[in-house]
Amino acid sequence: MRLDKFVSHATGLPREISKRAVRKKQVQVNGAVVTNAAYQVAVDDQIVFDGERLVIPGPRYLMLNKPAGYVCATEDGDHPIVLDLLHDMNPEGLSIAGRLDIDTTGLVLLSDDGQWLHRVTSPRHLFAKVYRVQLHSPVDQQTIDSFASGMLLRGEDKPTAPAQCVALADNGAEVTLNEGRYHQVKRMFAACGNHVISLHRSQIGAVILDAALAPGEYRELSADEIASFQP
Ligand code: URA
Repeated sequence: MRLDKFVSHATGLPREISKRAVRKKQVQVNGAVVTNAAYQVAVDDQIVFDGERLVIPGPRYLMLNKPAGYVCATEDGDHPIVLDLLHDMNPEGLSIAGRLDIDTTGLVLLSDDGQWLHRVTSPRHLFAKVYRVQLHSPVDQQTIDSFASGMLLRGEDKPTAPAQCVALADNGAEVTLNEGRYHQVKRMFAACGNHVISLHRSQIGAVILDAALAPGEYRELSADEIASFQP
């Protein structure tokens, strides 16, 4: 890893500021000042910044309560992205496990641990996702049966996996999916002649969105929450 990237990861400082610190002789490698930001850090190099030994922190695991209007992407020319909400940390390296549409709210998991992200999203492990849905019309028995048996969505040749749809009061529903296709909840209700007005994800696997998190807020996952995605 480049020296400026190492400093940025270890301190949380933006890359540009880390680069400047290296050039301004604030960084030492194994006791000697190095001003080349592109220096490749070796595993046993000791990096010191302003007199303090730097270490790369372990992987990060976060849950975020996504507000509407934010895109689940690492960059977007037109809209704010969920990484913009991580105010007091360096978002570099973080990826999103299981994207939500721009107008969907609720639970988003983020990490820089590629293997963990893969486990959370891999269709092989089937971690259920739970959604609260507000609909145009009440859920009827036919819809519940179609979700349970699987349905063919427009433009696709494989029916959806069995899913659970529970009707709630006032045109609400709770849906549990075991897969993650593009706009899946909206398209499944559309295929049943209904229309999703709002969609909120409350759970992925055993991890439930923390009720203490207001929209836009996030927290680190507990050790148990991280481990709950072990196969
Ligand atoms: N299904 C959808 O239609 N949208 C989402 O954001 C998530 C699931």
